[in-house]
Amino acid sequence: MVVLLFVAVLASFVSGTYPSLTGESGHHVAGVRNGRVDPRLLGATPFATPGTRQNADGTYEAFVVARAFQFEPAVLKVPAGQPVTIHVTSADVMHGLMIVGTNINTTVIPGQVSSFTTTFRREGTLDVICNEYCGSGHHGMISRLTVEVGPP
Ligand code: CUA
Repeated sequence: MVVLLFVAVLASFVSGTYPSLTGESGHHVAGVRNGRVDPRLLGATPFATPGTRQNADGTYEAFVVARAFQFEPAVLKVPAGQPVTIHVTSADVMHGLMIVGTNINTTVIPGQVSSFTTTFRREGTLDVICNEYCGSGHHGMISRLTVEVGPP
């Protein structure tokens, strides 16, 4: 697991994203302690309702669950020109999350939450793909991210 964690962090730095596996970014997520979450109990966390939300302070957070062989939500809507902190975890096995056309590329490990903050500048639709072999449906594990003007 230490090796996997190292690879995840290394991949994240290489790709220019910054996961807060230890929660040092200050984003408190209910049910998540020090970047760890029980994959059997995602229903008791914000991952129970995947998608983007606006917090009381105006910031945006998005929760994404990877499971064989899909991402939830199937279409993640984010606002254009606003920083959004994306949290992703796995409900089962190790997956990857890569947003095609960006430098976002992180390993998704059951029991851990990878978080990163990014701003999508332009409206449009991007493909989100799993780039970590996860089983027979791996190659079909694709979802969409839509960047929209206005609240998601
Ligand atoms: Cu999920 Cu490959």
